[in-house]
Amino acid sequence: MHSINQITCLALQLTNSFTCFGFNNCDNLTQMKSPVNPPWKEQLKEELSRQPVNFFTFATVKDGKPRARTLTLKGFLGETGAEMPTTFSDSLFVGADSRQDKVQEVLASPAFEAVFWLPNVGSQWRIRGEAAVLGGDDAVAREKITQHLQPAEGWTFEDEILKGFNTLDKGQKYKFGVTDGGVVGVVPKEFRMLVLLPQVVERLGIKPPELGIKHYEARIGYPVGWVES
Ligand SMILES: Cc1cc2nc3c(=O)[nH]c(=O)nc-3n(C[C@H](O)[C@H](O)[C@H](O)COP(=O)(O)O)c2cc1C
Repeated sequence: MHSINQITCLALQLTNSFTCFGFNNCDNLTQMKSPVNPPWKEQLKEELSRQPVNFFTFATVKDGKPRARTLTLKGFLGETGAEMPTTFSDSLFVGADSRQDKVQEVLASPAFEAVFWLPNVGSQWRIRGEAAVLGGDDAVAREKITQHLQPAEGWTFEDEILKGFNTLDKGQKYKFGVTDGGVVGVVPKEFRMLVLLPQVVERLGIKPPELGIKHYEARIGYPVGWVES
């Protein structure tokens, strides 16, 4: 079966509206992926590490209207909890619950915007794209996430979801019936991971010398990857 990117690229070639930016082999999926280490990622990681906690505002769409709430960032999918990660992604994730509105909203309409204010740095990051829900009936989500992931050999979604659950604090685990807050071997069935697949990233610096806005945009499906403007 062809991925959406392959079909898109084929359509582009057929219509001759665009070239594949000098790459003739559009079947090569590695060229179709979003780069897992885009130019903004290291800077965001470094700035996040200067905060004691990483809360951010996460907005979804409900019945055509915005809906926002505070969430706790867990990190980049595949990389959290490892001293020297071997799986990489450009996608942030948080812990969630299938019974929550935000999960239902993302399933109905995946557009999101996430906003971080990092006071210790003096920067605002605004990330928008499509969110995907891992856990439950997640075959489509896995396919989308795969476009943003470079997994190490042996890496599995199941292990990642288990690891994601075990990153929750005691209070969060309690809501899933894990009353002692301990490490579990089986993920509670209501646990979900919200994975934020970025398309546009903007950084606003309010302190010299990083004053002003940097703007990155994904060109998923094209080898150029992220562009800055
Ligand atoms: C500081 C703070 C951090 C939070 N972190 C999370 C989180 O990581 N995951 C989560 O599901 N809810 C978190 N919440 C709760 C959400 O903001 C929200 O109230 C709840 O998830 C229900 O939202 P919903 O009805 O839009 O799904 C947090 C709330 C606060 C105030």
